[in-house]
Amino acid sequence: MMKKFLLIPFLLFAVLSMAACGGGSDEPFTPEQPENPGSGDDSDNHPDTPAPGGNGRYLVLYASRTNNTERVAQLIQTTLDCDMLEVEPETAYDNDYNSMLERSQEELAAIRQGNYPPIKTSLENFDDYDIVFVGYPIWYSSMATPMQTFLHEHAAKLAGKRIALFATSGSSGISTSVSEARSLCPDATIIDRTLLLTSSGLSQMATRVPSWLEEIGATREETESPGETSMKVKISVGNRTITATMEDNAAGRDFLSRLPLEVTLNDYNNTTEKIFYPDPALTTEGVTRGCAPTPGDITIYVPWGNVAIFCKSWSHSDDLIKIGRIDGDGIEALNIGGDIAVKFERQ
Ligand SMILES: Cc1cc2nc3c(=O)[nH]c(=O)nc-3n(C[C@H](O)[C@H](O)[C@H](O)COP(=O)(O)O)c2cc1C
Repeated sequence: MMKKFLLIPFLLFAVLSMAACGGGSDEPFTPEQPENPGSGDDSDNHPDTPAPGGNGRYLVLYASRTNNTERVAQLIQTTLDCDMLEVEPETAYDNDYNSMLERSQEELAAIRQGNYPPIKTSLENFDDYDIVFVGYPIWYSSMATPMQTFLHEHAAKLAGKRIALFATSGSSGISTSVSEARSLCPDATIIDRTLLLTSSGLSQMATRVPSWLEEIGATREETESPGETSMKVKISVGNRTITATMEDNAAGRDFLSRLPLEVTLNDYNNTTEKIFYPDPALTTEGVTRGCAPTPGDITIYVPWGNVAIFCKSWSHSDDLIKIGRIDGDGIEALNIGGDIAVKFERQ
């Protein structure tokens, strides 16, 4: 019964896939670069090391059987010049398409019972990464099983991290797999904007990938000297422009990764603060708490998850985290009653 139910959407994508390659092949795309730079070693006892890129802020993880997802992963990797690692099943999938389908259905059914099929890829920690990209093919509307296992096994280590999902499919959507990612990694932030390339969309990869990376604020920026310039923010308030410098901590970098951002700052406590609620809340993992704000300080009020820009001084609170500061006397532009529409951009 379940198999029949699963077969209906599958037959649809299979037909589309075959149409896309113009023949009877069940493998819709020819791999361009079959090389697996991030492959782990064959023993499952040792954590793997991602193939390093020049930019250590991002990691691209991907699972791929027929290399569609791998091609997208490689494009993200080269665009950002970042680390990459392939997530592989313990036993490779059969080349025979029908037995592959059967095995994947069995694995998906096992996952629903809480039994995750073994993989040979593991990672010690994700400490250095601001964003972890997670890519996979859609299998029966779900996330391909090796990646589900990987997320299940690394959920604790991914807590507090931002995860950007990308997927390839014949024609199905990504939403079921987004829900799966959220429940597999409940303590990570799954970035709302995801990237799905269906078989007809894969040819637009060269334009779709860079614009998605820009939307989520992932840039190929030098990591050697993050310094002042890269932490600078331009804030447009009416026809005035002021600047701010973000703290070089996880929360400050998370804020920068959301830019550009247009928000209304709400007046709070008689213009003591101007506040807004980033959605999702900014990560505060590993960031020192406690701040006695002075005018110009940009903070997070941890219990509520809002950003608060102080126009007046306030007493020390352990619930405040400083994430940046408006430069010079720029705070005067915000030190007026009422709500104010502003636009934050990278400078
Ligand atoms: C077991 C299996 C199940 C699949 N299920 C779906 C599906 O439900 N919907 C869909 O649009 N495509 C489905 N596909 C097609 C793949 O998602 C698509 O070909 C994808 O690009 C393959 O990525 P890869 O080359 O990285 O393995 C399925 C493919 C396989 C092998």
